[in-house]
Amino acid sequence: MKIFLDTADVEAIKWGVALGVVDGVTTNPTLAARAGRGFKETVLEICEICTGPVSAETVGLTAEQIIKEGRILAQWAPNIVVKVPLIAEGLKAVRQLSAEGIKTNVTLVFSPAQALLAAKAGATYVSPFLGRYDDIGQEGMQLVREIVQIFRNYNFQTEILAASIRNPLHVVEAAKAGADIATMPPKVLEQMIAHPLTDKGLTSFLKDWESVPDAKTVFAEPER
Ligand code: G3P
Repeated sequence: MKIFLDTADVEAIKWGVALGVVDGVTTNPTLAARAGRGFKETVLEICEICTGPVSAETVGLTAEQIIKEGRILAQWAPNIVVKVPLIAEGLKAVRQLSAEGIKTNVTLVFSPAQALLAAKAGATYVSPFLGRYDDIGQEGMQLVREIVQIFRNYNFQTEILAASIRNPLHVVEAAKAGADIATMPPKVLEQMIAHPLTDKGLTSFLKDWESVPDAKTVFAEPER
């Protein structure tokens, strides 16, 4: 499973990329606003830090406008993915952008029917929102399971990008369901790393290491 960071915070992206486990980045207008600087400069910087796919979202509401914005975004960097909302005009735009070889990520997907249409339109990625479903008392993960089943039935090449991830359990469940990618806030990636038993075990190992006779010298030799 690929891991994307869902943020426009360049420092957080630098941190994640340095870990060696981040495969891409997703942004949206809310995250762009939170970054507090120009959208283009932010996206360009992200595309330099992360060489994997970087989703940047259109804001037009007609196919014509979405296509225009998508073409502009696609020129910014080779790893840009044009993020398009799942509306009728968005589907038309995805069809055209895909025909031009521009990668697309269809976002704000809340039903398997919507995901099916995005795949038929030629989307590179489809982004079901899990957390926002959970927020209204429904199981978001069921959406991922159903999309996985449909895409497998018809061998769609569209990748399933589990979005609106709020905790490590969401990531694990999305992986078990067969999502291709999970995009998560940096905080969730930090939570995935941390475990109290790891910390406890490490403290105990380091304490015991002190009584190994050559503990202080064994790693002090110069590298060859
Ligand atoms: O970027 C799309 C999605 O991941 C947003 O998540 O937490 O705002 O529902 P959230």
